[in-house]
Amino acid sequence: MKKVKFIITLIGLVMFPLLIIAGCPRHINERTFDKEVQVLLYQRNCAHCHGNRGDVGTDSVYLNESDMSEEQIADATRYGVGMMPGYEDKLTDEEIEAVSNYVYEFLIHSSR
Ligand code: HEC
Repeated sequence: MKKVKFIITLIGLVMFPLLIIAGCPRHINERTFDKEVQVLLYQRNCAHCHGNRGDVGTDSVYLNESDMSEEQIADATRYGVGMMPGYEDKLTDEEIEAVSNYVYEFLIHSSR
């Protein structure tokens, strides 16, 4: 019996911190981007199709009305979507994240 108690206590001791760690909200948006760099990235790579404010229709898709999450925007930008080419080879991961964050934060959700 003593052994069982010991093992249960041991499991408890191991599991408790694990549960605390797992229960913490994950901060996926802790990154900070330089707004000027984001604007430049967007203007150089995206604006000629999507317009400076994302309000130019491309195949009836208006970027500023997209209901994609930031991660989905990054995926679309990285791999391309429909007629749009991917930027995997043209932009670094960080640049893709920066421009996707710009689209999400400033073009789609700026009025919120
Ligand atoms: C050559 C023109 C062109 C360029 C440049 C371009 N796009 Fe697009 N983009 C499109 C077209 C066309 C679509 C619609 C694709 C479809 O659904 O068929 C689209 C769709 C998207 C979508 C999906 C939106 C939705 O809700 O379906 C995202 C996100 C997006 N573009 C982001 C970007 C970003 C970020 C850049 C710059 C890095 C960029 N695009 C550059 C033409 C372009």
